[in-house]
Amino acid sequence: MIVKPEVLVTRAVFPEVIARLSEHFQVDSNQSDETWNKAELIERLQGKAGVFTTGSERIDADVLAACPRLQICANMAVGYNNFDLDAMTDQGVLGTNAPDVLTQTTADFGFALLLAAARRVCESEHYLRAGQWRRWRYDMFAGAEVHGSTLGILGMGRIGQAIAKRGAMGFDMPVVYHNRSRLTPEIEAICGARYVSKEELLRTADHLVLVLPYSHQSHHAIGASELDQMKASATLVNIARGGIVDDAALADALRHGRLAAAGLDVFEGEPTVHPALLALKNVVLTPHIASATMPTRMTMAILAADNLIGFLTAGQAIAPLNPQVLSLPQHAQRKG
Ligand code: DGY
Repeated sequence: MIVKPEVLVTRAVFPEVIARLSEHFQVDSNQSDETWNKAELIERLQGKAGVFTTGSERIDADVLAACPRLQICANMAVGYNNFDLDAMTDQGVLGTNAPDVLTQTTADFGFALLLAAARRVCESEHYLRAGQWRRWRYDMFAGAEVHGSTLGILGMGRIGQAIAKRGAMGFDMPVVYHNRSRLTPEIEAICGARYVSKEELLRTADHLVLVLPYSHQSHHAIGASELDQMKASATLVNIARGGIVDDAALADALRHGRLAAAGLDVFEGEPTVHPALLALKNVVLTPHIASATMPTRMTMAILAADNLIGFLTAGQAIAPLNPQVLSLPQHAQRKG
């Protein structure tokens, strides 16, 4: 009898995805969705050749050392700051993510937050629901113009480019961006976007959307001094990762009118949200749902599953993050 390798699915996921994995593996799945601490995660990972993670579980050198049979960690997310990728590479463990499939959905949501924050959608809805609407007023919940205003984008990967196209083509916005590396003139033309320094981006954007990956380098990329460089009438949108914005500094700027509005889907220390943000009306807060449509979440989950299946059955993966692991000599590879 052929013994199937064992894999762990760390959080609840679509039954169809569990069924797909079960064709190839013995699947231990956390369908009850309880939260595991590090020790529990390590315990559940014993004997597992692969793990399906969601971006909430930290896979670091301790976890890898304690789970010597683990060969692949497949994230159901494009972001992978929950992985210590250097440790994974050192230990010969493959990391994979789920790029591309969430680009348009996440860009849609970035725009939804921008519109909601700039046009005060949630604030006015709360007012109405609270029974406070008595009469029309010329300046009632008057917000910032979106069409025709300058859209700034920090981080110009796939999602940043998709947001740029929405702004340039759908809303007639001049688009400026800053990125570690400048796009080719052809891609800039397709996106309708102009490359500027970070300082010019902060100074000129009427609405600034953050879409850069989180790393030590991007920690607090938007802090008190960056917020001070922005227009007081500007909107800030963070759909990237918590920690890119200094949330306390942001709350202070919003409270004191140094920034008009913000739309945030990600937070430092989430799911805990800085209490000063919770107390403000001029910020729209959502629980990390930018990629949350059922079709997109299904596609992300299938991609993560297919990375596991590809690697553990054929030594290949669709979206490897440290592809050098794929070419390690047999003797240096971890065995399941
Ligand atoms: C991602 O894919 O990185 C999104 O933030 C969902 O976790």
